[in-house]
Amino acid sequence: MSNYEDIFKKVVSHAKEYGYVFQSSEIYDGLAAAYDYGPNGVELKNNIKNYWWKSMVNMHENIVGLDSSIFMHPTTWKASGHIDAFNDPLVDNKDSKKRYRADVLIEDHIAKIEAKIDKDVLKAKKRFGDGFNKEEFLTTNGRILDRQKQIDTINEKMNTSLSSGNLEKVKSLIEELDIKCPVSGSNNWTDVRQFNLMFKTQMGATADGSADLYLRPETAQGIFVNFLNVQKTARMKIPFGIAQIGKAFRNEIVARQFIFRMREFEQMEMQFFVRPGEEMKWYDYWKDFRMKWHNSLAMGEDNYRFHDHENLAHYANAATDIEFKFPFGFKELEGIHSRTDFDLKAHQEHSGKKLQYFDPELGESYVPYVVETSIGLDRMFLTVLSNSFHEEELENGESRVVLKIPAVLAPLKAAILPLTKKDGMPEKAREIMKMLQIDFNCQYEEKDSIGKRYRRQDAIGTPFCITVDHQTLEENTVTLRDRDTMKQERISVDKLQTIIAEKVNISNYLG
Ligand code: GAP
Repeated sequence: MSNYEDIFKKVVSHAKEYGYVFQSSEIYDGLAAAYDYGPNGVELKNNIKNYWWKSMVNMHENIVGLDSSIFMHPTTWKASGHIDAFNDPLVDNKDSKKRYRADVLIEDHIAKIEAKIDKDVLKAKKRFGDGFNKEEFLTTNGRILDRQKQIDTINEKMNTSLSSGNLEKVKSLIEELDIKCPVSGSNNWTDVRQFNLMFKTQMGATADGSADLYLRPETAQGIFVNFLNVQKTARMKIPFGIAQIGKAFRNEIVARQFIFRMREFEQMEMQFFVRPGEEMKWYDYWKDFRMKWHNSLAMGEDNYRFHDHENLAHYANAATDIEFKFPFGFKELEGIHSRTDFDLKAHQEHSGKKLQYFDPELGESYVPYVVETSIGLDRMFLTVLSNSFHEEELENGESRVVLKIPAVLAPLKAAILPLTKKDGMPEKAREIMKMLQIDFNCQYEEKDSIGKRYRRQDAIGTPFCITVDHQTLEENTVTLRDRDTMKQERISVDKLQTIIAEKVNISNYLG
């Protein structure tokens, strides 16, 4: 097992042990690609939602929110193109009977070549020491250039075959690269076929009178069909945006890597409506803005990169992914798409209702163009969790596991810990808890030794531990322990509020 796989396994079991994420229906041996969020998980999830909503909606005068239903009129999905074009190319291995996404098999092959490049860089860095120039090495070293050329050729072949729908060529590419099934080890593949990702269900009591419905595969369509409702009632002027957080469902062929690819997941999407012809300006604006949002959490600028799409979705004229360095490599975290007027026009045609905006400055009506930002909430959760997980060796020879979650997102902001269960310490600790809990999510804990309680809070990712001892009762001071530095300082109870706020308040991150 590689070091990365090992770390990822630890993150997954840590998430369960500390009440972040459970397998769905675990007592029935689980349901593939569905997960439940535990007591700490739901807090982290809510904090991520709030961090996104604050930045996108509350801090933009021209963006408003929406909460549309998951069930939508079935024609919605005909108009949006999802019935005809929301497919994944799948391929089966005849020996293991395992099913794969053909493009993912090829991407995994590319990732292996990328990993070789990373290894070459590491080796060269060791060899050349301080004088090593990574940029120069990447652009001049013969072996690296060969590997990069291989990657580019594979990408180009994959993208042209996928965008032209030539599935035979996709299969030929898998054969040409001699990609083997990770389970059977053979390259005995079926033909590549298209597979629609939408879940179907029925509405109505009887089979006869029921209508076929789909569980929405993206929240965006709820925004498009409400475009005029929102624009008129909120009296919005173009350019303006509509944001929404909600569940989406996709019958993923290969659901794996924990909460990275699920069949039921949550999206945080924003559709920004602009004048036709101005979409590229806004596309660049939102690329920049969203990257800044990610970096505001200080989880390492090198861990993010843009990946422009060559194989564009049916609705887009430009698209990029913000990729994050997960323990299993750089993968898509967020999509930014210039969706043209495709969706509004399609809904206009299928519904027979005009979806136009009268632009008072231009004195004319038009169907606006749309730039969207779409991030998976669960993927963002995994980003935070995997990036925060650290195993540390301490000076005293002990070790600890700590989640260094950005304090603004941490599920608990402070733990209040009476040193012992007697001498009035619990009462004083509860008094402090009462004072703080209106502003911060806090936990009171009196069981186990103080050292054990510190470790437990480190593992949960609580930025502060507040210990109440004899001195507290005498002079109204506590020890405040910092999660990351483990430093403890004696401070007055009156200062707690301000010190915690300075570290965890959203204004320190987004201000
Ligand atoms: N409205 C545009 C749209 O849905 P997308 O790139 O298909 O675009 C946007 O999805 C984001 O939703 C992705 O970047 C990813 O974070 C998240 N996402 C997509 N499929 C997912 C899945 N099966 N499990 C978890 N998150 C998913």
